[in-house]
Amino acid sequence: MKEVNNYMEILVEKYLESVLAEWDICKCDKCKKDITALALNSLPPMYTTTEAGCVYVKVNTSFNPQYAADVVLAIDKAIQIVSEEVRHGESVYLIGFMGSGKSTIGQELAMKLKYKWVDLDKYIEEHQKMTIKELFESCGEPCFRKLEMNCLKELEHKDNLVVSTGGGVIMTPENVRLLKKQKTFYLKWDFDTLFERVSHDENRPLVKNYKQLWTLYHSRTKLYEETCCMVIEGKGKSTTQISEEIISLMEEENENSCD
Ligand code: S3P
Repeated sequence: MKEVNNYMEILVEKYLESVLAEWDICKCDKCKKDITALALNSLPPMYTTTEAGCVYVKVNTSFNPQYAADVVLAIDKAIQIVSEEVRHGESVYLIGFMGSGKSTIGQELAMKLKYKWVDLDKYIEEHQKMTIKELFESCGEPCFRKLEMNCLKELEHKDNLVVSTGGGVIMTPENVRLLKKQKTFYLKWDFDTLFERVSHDENRPLVKNYKQLWTLYHSRTKLYEETCCMVIEGKGKSTTQISEEIISLMEEENENSCD
């Protein structure tokens, strides 16, 4: 802040740079511009602003700390508003074959991000008051896929969720379309690891034998890869390592852009 020809000049951009580091928000150029514009627009008319992010206020008397305080307050408020807007609408979706840890990792991820965890299969079971196994037995796979699609659609506009989907969610083209619009991570494992994890699970109606599961796995791999925004290789990593990897990828993406 300095006095220039009876005007107090306050450099918003400089101040913004100095405080932004303390905020856990996106620091891309677009966000900085949004914050500056919002702060400048919210100042009373006595403040003249320039596109370059300077504020001028005519000073009759000598230095008045209130000028700087007004600008600082406006910037802090603008940072808060923009950071909420940026976070708004962000949910994380986990996809992958049966046994890839979507539920376990989803729960840990939700806890770390302070998001709500939704397990799509459990969500369907609660709605239908039936287990997935009972649903497959009583109405068949096509009927289950319809329910799955409807439930996924219900979640589409909800924010701050971590959604653990079922392994076959990508079999429905409408689901793929929805998932492509979200932050979707594919938890990828080699087939033998997955087979070992699920082969004795009687609650998974699609688990029959090695050959059938092998065919199913290979028929889906490409779809998972095309649907996700990021592939997470699981081999050799713990649940905690995978959830931390997802969080740092999200942070990296937020740093670069927040569109
Ligand atoms: C399915 C996977 C299951 C469940 C249903 C169908 C699939 O979820 O949705 O049995 O088609 O792969 P998990 O991936 O959580 O086992």
